[in-house]
Amino acid sequence: MKILIVGASGSIGSQVLLHCLSHPDITAVVAFVRRNLPANISGHPKLQCVIIQDFSKWPEEVLHAHSDAVGMLWNMGTNTGDMLADLEYPLAFIESMGRVLETQSSRPPFKYVHLSGKFVRQNQEEKLCFLEEARKMKGRLETRSLAFANNHAAIWKTFIVRPGAVATENLLIPGVIATVLGETLSVRVEELAAFMTYLAMDGRGEDSLIENTRIVRKGRELLEQHRNNIKP
Ligand SMILES: NC(=O)c1ccc[n+]([C@@H]2O[C@H](COP(=O)([O-])OP(=O)(O)OC[C@H]3O[C@@H](n4cnc5c(N)ncnc54)[C@H](OP(=O)(O)O)[C@@H]3O)[C@@H](O)[C@H]2O)c1
Repeated sequence: MKILIVGASGSIGSQVLLHCLSHPDITAVVAFVRRNLPANISGHPKLQCVIIQDFSKWPEEVLHAHSDAVGMLWNMGTNTGDMLADLEYPLAFIESMGRVLETQSSRPPFKYVHLSGKFVRQNQEEKLCFLEEARKMKGRLETRSLAFANNHAAIWKTFIVRPGAVATENLLIPGVIATVLGETLSVRVEELAAFMTYLAMDGRGEDSLIENTRIVRKGRELLEQHRNNIKP
């Protein structure tokens, strides 16, 4: 099984990448990056890195070459809102890959898994007391990527994951932070990575919009299975 990833250099995306590489059912991971990943990871035998100069222009031949992937894990983004990274780039991928898939004979729908966030808002009229434009910009992406899936149901499925605070390795005591905030507000990055990967590989029965509690609970279950599977 081949899987695509964007944002693999980020604090969340790097853990999603590691999870994919360690998954026994994933045989190939293609990371679209703007600069090379660290040498300790870029040499992994399952990993292919493809340098993208401009994420608003996806060369058709590149997408064709990877249209056999089950899905895309989109981890690019900013906290403060960037029109390119948070809106235009993911939409450019969705539309470009959609055009390529429409030319192909029947295959299971491509799963687009987008890393959004708990505080993102689709309602553009709502008054917000912090990061209003960033949260609404990401909300527009949610709305448009879900609409794309509705209009292209034969070839496309969109999953939006909306974690609260993600406890990553960069935090001093990630496990403690996740425990203190609880399962509605926080998720450990390993649980999020396992959950996102599962959505791209399968995701049957999951809602299109997925909130923190579901990510934590299913993520824990998946991690447990994963640990048992990779035991020597
Ligand atoms: N951390 C949390 O607790 C949390 C919680 C909920 C949601 N989120 C959301 O999850 C997303 C990722 O968070 P993170 O903490 O992993 O962020 P991060 O460590 O800053 O990583 C961001 C990723 O996006 C890429 N990126 C950003 N701007 C780009 C651009 N203009 N062109 C190409 N690539 C670009 C970065 O690539 P380079 O390495 O090449 O710069 C990197 O791979 C963000 O949207 C964030 O708001 C985070």
